[in-house]
Amino acid sequence: MEPVGSKVSIVGAGAVGMAIAYAALIRGVARTVALMDVNAEKVAAEVLDLSHGLEFVSRASVIGGANPAVCAGSDVIVFTAGAKQRPGQSRLELAEATIELTRTALPPIVAAAPQARIVMVTNPVDIITYAALKFTGLPRNQLFGSGTVLDSSRLRFLVSEHCRVAVQNVHAYIAGEHGDSEIPLWSSATIGGVPLLDWESLRGGELLDADARAHIHSEVVGSAYRIIEGKGATNYAIGLASTRIVEAILNDEHRVLPVSALIDEDIHGISDVCLSLPTVVDAAGAGQRLPIAMSADELAGLRASAQTLREMQARFGL
Ligand SMILES: NC(=O)c1ccc[n+]([C@@H]2O[C@H](COP(=O)([O-])OP(=O)(O)OC[C@H]3O[C@@H](n4cnc5c(N)ncnc54)[C@H](O)[C@@H]3O)[C@@H](O)[C@H]2O)c1
Repeated sequence: MEPVGSKVSIVGAGAVGMAIAYAALIRGVARTVALMDVNAEKVAAEVLDLSHGLEFVSRASVIGGANPAVCAGSDVIVFTAGAKQRPGQSRLELAEATIELTRTALPPIVAAAPQARIVMVTNPVDIITYAALKFTGLPRNQLFGSGTVLDSSRLRFLVSEHCRVAVQNVHAYIAGEHGDSEIPLWSSATIGGVPLLDWESLRGGELLDADARAHIHSEVVGSAYRIIEGKGATNYAIGLASTRIVEAILNDEHRVLPVSALIDEDIHGISDVCLSLPTVVDAAGAGQRLPIAMSADELAGLRASAQTLREMQARFGL
């Protein structure tokens, strides 16, 4: 049977790519899930493994290969291809290798699916997104990064645990870099409509005072390191987060997500950098950013985060 309907392609069938593919199938996101990886043997095995579960999900088909042609006609492409860190290789050298990988791998994929919206996941995601825009010439709405969607879900989870309220009722964003300089936007955060900074303890939940907030912030920043120490990669939560972004695009949801898109105008004195701010995501990709209120400290943190990213861009000659 010739599949009809939307197609999502995932470049890089590693830990992250496969978690996205698995989540996408279970959530019935697309009719065709395509995997592309330079490791032809691995991708063939992953296609078989996923295909054997198709009976248990919404109608879909899984295809894959080592040639970018497998991505032809995609509606959305999620880029997770990564260079493995070699023994003795610094994070900086790894980032250089990853930028080079993006320079060579991405243009043929875009040529195979010129209309696709492209979601970059590969780290350092803000820098890779900025580089990918340069290498492909695509507009800022069409190519953007998963940014701090994952970090914000980590923040919401920790707040929900602390306050003993369902995570779905916590509205809070991490903005800036997906990395050490990211900042939680506490001043605009709410729990069930109550400003988070006014939160009183409920049903045994604890107060969210400055110490508790600082602890949660450091937990969010440190959690990826801890997960990687324990299991070598983070993959399930980013799989779900990326799938959420794909759904927002395919269903034209106008969903507010803190994705990393190019700032090509002046926002709070910040420009020419990719970083995360709450952004409306729809069929065209990353749309309007919300004019979210920030305290003076948050604004200073966002500017410092932008500066960190600009320095990295300069270091990599971007
Ligand atoms: N943005 C986020 O929130 C977030 C979260 C977790 C991981 N990540 C990043 O996602 C990336 C992937 O992580 P992983 O754990 O899946 O790594 P992995 O090593 O398990 O998988 C990477 C895959 O990319 C493939 N690959 C390499 N070069 C390729 C190319 N030119 N074309 C196609 N495929 C190619 C490899 O064969 C491998 O299968 C890393 O950069 C990681 O840091 C980002």
